[in-house]
Amino acid sequence: MATEITELGYITIGVSDLAAWESFASQVLALDVRPGENASTRYLRMDYWHHRIKLVEDPSDDVMAIGLRVAGVLEFREMAARLEGAGCDVRVGTDAEATERHVLEVMFLEDPNGFPLEIFHGPLVQYDQPFHPGRGMHGGFKTAGGGFGHMMLNRRASFEDLHAFYTILGLRGGVEYKIALPGQPEPVELMFLHCNSRQHTLAFGGPAEKRVNHLMFEVERLEDVGLTHDIVRLAQLPVIIEPGSHANDHNFSFYFKNPSGFMNEIGWGGRAPTGQSEYFQRDAYGHAPVLENMKDFMVPA
Ligand SMILES: [Fe+2]
Repeated sequence: MATEITELGYITIGVSDLAAWESFASQVLALDVRPGENASTRYLRMDYWHHRIKLVEDPSDDVMAIGLRVAGVLEFREMAARLEGAGCDVRVGTDAEATERHVLEVMFLEDPNGFPLEIFHGPLVQYDQPFHPGRGMHGGFKTAGGGFGHMMLNRRASFEDLHAFYTILGLRGGVEYKIALPGQPEPVELMFLHCNSRQHTLAFGGPAEKRVNHLMFEVERLEDVGLTHDIVRLAQLPVIIEPGSHANDHNFSFYFKNPSGFMNEIGWGGRAPTGQSEYFQRDAYGHAPVLENMKDFMVPA
């Protein structure tokens, strides 16, 4: 089996308002909120995994760790050797560090942005504990084979450096959008990388102040995009991008602001990577930016 990242497995988010996140995760996102190991942490479940998101009380309101999975122990060792061979500063974690993350083994490194990556294998999967959504859902979250979703990061490094680094990890892709955005004199380039049946797993825009631009979950039924939209409207949370369909991943989705000030995207109907590069100047339809709510997310010119 080729040694490559197989999915976006988990992330850790630093949140300044844990109570607000707990209610948002459960009542808006429909995630299963579980106690953490102490009063300042919570685990968020969306399938049989022990967790997909760990919340840590922290003033950063940003992503603190990005957990990327490899298939097993042989791939883990090969990946560590490959990264060391490429001159990356990698540290294989202790048993205690792996146990703390509910995985068999973990290694730590930074990407060219300086963002913390945790490459792991062997997540704790709890088939005795079916996913129990925090509120009613029509279906579940689409995670099998594609990881728990995708994430767009605000890059600090060049596309070239990011592409070269993530190619070492086995991700593929490139610039897929050259898109006109409000307030930008020139079209903005966005890069998308994939490693499984999800059209993209990591994307890079920016730069901007936070590491993360948005976090996307895909639902199995269109009704859950609609229901989430109703709940977001009812709760008067700021919608940042109206419902519409992306040209690249074909998800029907919309974007709204979470308690940490970055965006969540909920989508349905995504396609697999096409295997050949393409680029787009517009989305398929919809996805109109809500300008008064979008100003915090503008990419500086
Ligand atoms: Fe997205």
